Amino acid sequence: MKLFDVYPLFNIEIIKGKGCHVWDSDENEYLDLYGGHAVISVGHSHPTYVNAITDQINKLGFYSNSVQNSLQQKFAEKLGKACGYEDYTLFLINSGAEANENALKLASFHNGKKRVIAFKHAFHGRTSAAVRVTDNPKIIAPVNEDLAVTYLPLNDVKAVETELAKGDVSSVIIEGIQGVGGIQLPTDTFLQELRSLCTKYDACLILDEIQSGYGRSGKFFAHQYAGIQPDLITVAKGIANGFPMGGLLISPKFKPIYGMLGTTFGGNHLACSAAIAVLEIMENEQLIDNAAKVGAYLMEELQQLPGIKEVRGRGLMIGMEFNESIKEVRSKLLFEEKVFTGVAGTHTIRLLPPLCLSMDEAKEFLVRFKKVLNV
Ligand SMILES: Cc1ncc(COP(=O)(O)O)c(C=O)c1O
Repeated sequence: MKLFDVYPLFNIEIIKGKGCHVWDSDENEYLDLYGGHAVISVGHSHPTYVNAITDQINKLGFYSNSVQNSLQQKFAEKLGKACGYEDYTLFLINSGAEANENALKLASFHNGKKRVIAFKHAFHGRTSAAVRVTDNPKIIAPVNEDLAVTYLPLNDVKAVETELAKGDVSSVIIEGIQGVGGIQLPTDTFLQELRSLCTKYDACLILDEIQSGYGRSGKFFAHQYAGIQPDLITVAKGIANGFPMGGLLISPKFKPIYGMLGTTFGGNHLACSAAIAVLEIMENEQLIDNAAKVGAYLMEELQQLPGIKEVRGRGLMIGMEFNESIKEVRSKLLFEEKVFTGVAGTHTIRLLPPLCLSMDEAKEFLVRFKKVLNV
């Protein structure tokens, strides 16, 4: 059997990782400024993380959500403390799309409404509702089309109020920082206005922090720069450093009913062990502060380079928009300078390194990047 060929692949196989470095099958070493698409939060193969999963699999790999699993509660308590949402509750699933899917459902169960507001260039995942609120018609199948969605321009308060005033909007979903859309930031005032408009018109505010959360922006959640509290917050990617996991943080106003949400694998023993280890490492090594510090340094240095149209971002979520296609720059970075980066569209390079990126590694990246840019 062959694989369903839906991914354009680089002809590189990564077989080993350590911290912010990875190695391919020919033993070439790469600097990882991509973190496997913002997934590697605490670095590759961190010993605390490896030991936590190894210890757990030696005891128990899996049992179902029909019995107690104290690892879930331990993780929920640690997460509440780490992110400042101790009064929220947690529902665990396996991916970012699933987190958004459940958030959209919960909002609709709660207020009985159907329409969703999403934003231009948003990406929220590939499952039925999550893909429908993603602003990319190419990946929305006919079976997904029935959910009513209105896409509005980011940062346009008036447009949001006009739609919310119609009274049929169940939820507004927005990324803390748009990732796939090219590192576009909602302004703090826009998020504050969204918060009060959602309250005024009885719509739920869903913050998708799947890419921008878990310390990446230099705060636990990117929306915390605006000082707001959403009704629902979705997380995945960095939550378990590569072990598949997603989470939905739920404000106290939602009342759980047995059976309204459910999952086989969500919150399993291995995922929880991985996620607990991630929070321990983040705390011990102060990785959120590190993301803020190293990210600010990188942004400042990148802003001074000629040829880049705009540098956007917060913490270690950085986009560099060029006037021309970035294909060649990215390719040279990877194949000549051995640096992994991400892209958004055709003109923007995305940096999403592990949150443990050191100042020396950031400087090393700048040296290699300048070589590629010839500056
Ligand atoms: C902002 C955002 N939301 C949702 C998702 C979907 O997450 P997953 O691929 O884990 O389903 C992604 C993935 O890139 C994302 O960046």
